[in-house]
Amino acid sequence: MSALPILGEQGAGSSSLRRKPDLHIAPEGTAPGSLLRQVRPATLADVPALESLMAPYVATGDLLPRSNYDLCRHIKEYVVAEQPGGGIVGCGSLKIYSLALAEVAGLAVAASYQGGGVGRALTEALITEARAHGIAEVLALTRKPTFFLKLGFVLAEKEHFPLKVWADCARCPRQNCCDEVAVVLRL
Ligand SMILES: CC(C)(COP(=O)(O)OP(=O)(O)OC[C@H]1O[C@@H](n2cnc3c(N)ncnc32)[C@H](O)[C@@H]1OP(=O)(O)O)[C@@H](O)C(=O)NCCC(=O)NCCS
Repeated sequence: MSALPILGEQGAGSSSLRRKPDLHIAPEGTAPGSLLRQVRPATLADVPALESLMAPYVATGDLLPRSNYDLCRHIKEYVVAEQPGGGIVGCGSLKIYSLALAEVAGLAVAASYQGGGVGRALTEALITEARAHGIAEVLALTRKPTFFLKLGFVLAEKEHFPLKVWADCARCPRQNCCDEVAVVLRL
C-alpha cells in the first residue's frame, strides 16, 4: 500500500467509501492550524508506538490485547497515521480471513486527536486495501458502532462470521458477556 496523505482536524469530511482514496486537498476555509497527516503501512519500528497507542483502549476493554510477538508477527496488516514531523497518532489493521471476508481491527486514535477524521482515514485506507484484494465484505466487532455506521457499515449478526468467532472470540475472556456489536461493509 502506498502512503496516503490525509487531512487533519477539518479536512477529512465524509468522502465516499466507493472512491479510491487519493490526495485530499485542503478545502477553502480549512482551519490554519490543521496538520497534514499521512496514513502509511506500519513497519516493525512502529511496534513500540502501537503498543503505547493501544494500551489505554486495551485497559478500557475497547481493544483486545495484543502481545509484542503478535504485533511483530502481523505488522504487515497494520497502517498508521503519522504526523509530518513523526509521531504516530492512530493505527488500524486489516485481518484477512478468506477470499471474501476481512476484518478492520486494532483501530485506535490517540485521545487528543479523536474527532479529527483520523479514524475515518485509517478505516478508508483499510477498506481500499480490502477492495484491492477483491474482498466482498469487511467486518468489525466494536463497542463504537456509530463510528462505523457513519462510514457506511451496517449492523450484522456475529453468528454470520464463524471464521472471526473461531479466530478470536473463542480465546476472549468476555466471550460469555460480550458487549461488542458486529457491523459489516459490503464492497
Ligand atoms: C473509534 C475511534 C477509532 C474513532 O476515531 P476518530 O478519529 O475519533 O473518528 P473520526 O474523527 O474519523 O470520526 C468519523 C465520524 O465518526 C464519528 N465518531 C467517531 N467516534 C465516535 C463514537 N465513539 N461514537 C459515535 N460517533 C463517533 C465522528 O463524529 C465522525 O462523524 P462525522 O463524519 O459525522 O463528523 C477513536 O475514537 C478511538 O480510537 N477510540 C478508542 C478505541 C476504539 O474504541 N476503537 C474501535 C474498536 S473497533
